[in-house]
Amino acid sequence: MKGLVFREFLEMVEKEYGYETVDTIIEKSEVPSEGVYTSVGTYHHSEMFALVTELSKITKLDADKLLFTFGEYVFGVFTKAYPVFFVDKKSSFEILADVEGTIHVEVLKLYPEAELPTFSIEEETTDMMVMIYRSQRKLADFAEGLIHGCAKHFDEKITVSKEYIEQDGTVVSFRITK
Ligand code: HEM
Repeated sequence: MKGLVFREFLEMVEKEYGYETVDTIIEKSEVPSEGVYTSVGTYHHSEMFALVTELSKITKLDADKLLFTFGEYVFGVFTKAYPVFFVDKKSSFEILADVEGTIHVEVLKLYPEAELPTFSIEEETTDMMVMIYRSQRKLADFAEGLIHGCAKHFDEKITVSKEYIEQDGTVVSFRITK
């Protein structure tokens, strides 16, 4: 996982819970990087789970919920950092349909070591979309947060229902309705 994702995560934690919490989760999680992340560096995704686990102990919020919140937050960061993906886009479905074929393709050009999930659109109508998430990193809660962040960006109200196709979380179906 790219350092920039870790940096955004720690920034969110600092904003929400203060710098001491950032310090504590880095120390308690004993992550190999010791919390020093360069934007272009690559770190094992288990560091993210370790940090989230420690944050969950402090905040008493489920790790799933924290990953979701981080996804929603980081989408806002993406809209500012990569405005090019949003030119001429009028709805969340247009962006979501573009993640696999365009957005993540460009991300890979920028960061060839990025570890990205794959998404396939199984069904799409004007107000409903079914997307299948596949990833060995099992970050479906993060993906769900990104989907909500995307809808928020367009001021849309959506409902997302999640179905585990593989119980270990490597294949998850999202049904998004407007
Ligand atoms: C402008 C929009 C977007 C940008 C710039 C972007 C970029 C990125 C980057 C840089 C990573 C980290 C790769 C790594 O750490 O190695 C990532 C991961 C990820 N992205 Fe995107 N992304 C965007 C939109 C989305 C959307 C809308 C979704 C959800 C449908 C999504 C789903 C994910 C997931 C779930 C991961 C975590 C990796 C995994 O699950 O295996 N992304 N993305």
